[in-house]
Amino acid sequence: MADSSVINQQYDRLQMLKAFDETKAGVKGLHDSGLLKLPQIFVRPSEELIADLKHENAHQFQVPVIDLSGVDDGGRRKQIVEEVRSAAETWGFFQVVNHGIPRSVCDGMIDGVRDFNEQDVDQKKKYYTRDMKRSVRYHSCSFDLFRSRTATWKDTLTIALNSGSNLFDHHELPPVCRDSTVEYSKHVENLGNILLGLLSEALGLETEFLGNMECSEGHRLHCHYYPPCPEPELAIGSTKHSDAGFLTILLQNQVVSGLQVLCQGRWIDIQPVQGALVVNIGDLLQLVSNGKFRSNAHRAIANRSGPRISVACFFSGPLYNMTKIYGPIEELITKENPAVYKMVVMRDYLMNILNTSLEDYRALDYYKV
Ligand code: OGA
Ligand code: NI
Repeated sequence: MADSSVINQQYDRLQMLKAFDETKAGVKGLHDSGLLKLPQIFVRPSEELIADLKHENAHQFQVPVIDLSGVDDGGRRKQIVEEVRSAAETWGFFQVVNHGIPRSVCDGMIDGVRDFNEQDVDQKKKYYTRDMKRSVRYHSCSFDLFRSRTATWKDTLTIALNSGSNLFDHHELPPVCRDSTVEYSKHVENLGNILLGLLSEALGLETEFLGNMECSEGHRLHCHYYPPCPEPELAIGSTKHSDAGFLTILLQNQVVSGLQVLCQGRWIDIQPVQGALVVNIGDLLQLVSNGKFRSNAHRAIANRSGPRISVACFFSGPLYNMTKIYGPIEELITKENPAVYKMVVMRDYLMNILNTSLEDYRALDYYKV
């Protein structure tokens, strides 16, 4: 008896998820319909909600804000490298200001994402797909919607700008955000290379080291749109996770904070800082740095106000070369400091992510020696 009711519940949930996904109107479509209650598929399990209530408020903490001005001048660079090293080892997160991407380019990117999401549903629908092979994809919630316990309160436009062998055709981009995306991506790619140079030096290696390992390849943008939520305390914007690639640069609009990072068991808000970008270490950089740098868990909460818009740029490595192997950098391994991670083949690494729901994925735990 009990079993069949569980099966029925699971069946009903799957039907609800499918019905929602087939609207192709996104979470924004639900918000626009004026609903006052959160649909059941978005309600987090009660044990998670209770665990969150126990979290103390930790407003007094803030991830470091690093000023990149003068990054090419010797003495100043040393100081910046030191700040980057300390942040990458402890928080795995920092914000950067004076990063060289013009304000107009960042604002243009955010406006483009807003325009894409707020245009006529029929225009957006053309891009709605869960086919991971498509370079430009618009979809609701996460890639694991049908496997997850909770659907997430967000819509995402995913753009694979550099997946190696096949050159990205800009005409695939939606017209409303085409020019702004091309412009932003050029700048953010450049900033990614600057940051990888600083991170290489912070590991005591040559500036070009991480770049030469192709860490700056596999450049992808995930443009998130978090509509206002009628019952934010029951929902989640992005599930707790760590980023799988090497490095992430996140641009966010300044309206509401939503991004939180886990620090000693407490969720800390990353407050938007005027003109700043958030930078975080991904799992692969934790692996190649042999655990010296930290890929930290983070999430985005839902808010009653909004929309909150964020654009994550991932540098995921050479996704076109599935036989590429990564392991702890030899120069960092000594007798006193043996390798703590195994070698991983890109194909296996990616398969493991795609076959597990984000809620259950244990990141580098799979690759510990
Ligand atoms: C991500 C992410 C956070 C945000 O896309 O991996 O963590 O604030 N996004 O949208
Ligand atoms: Ni993330």
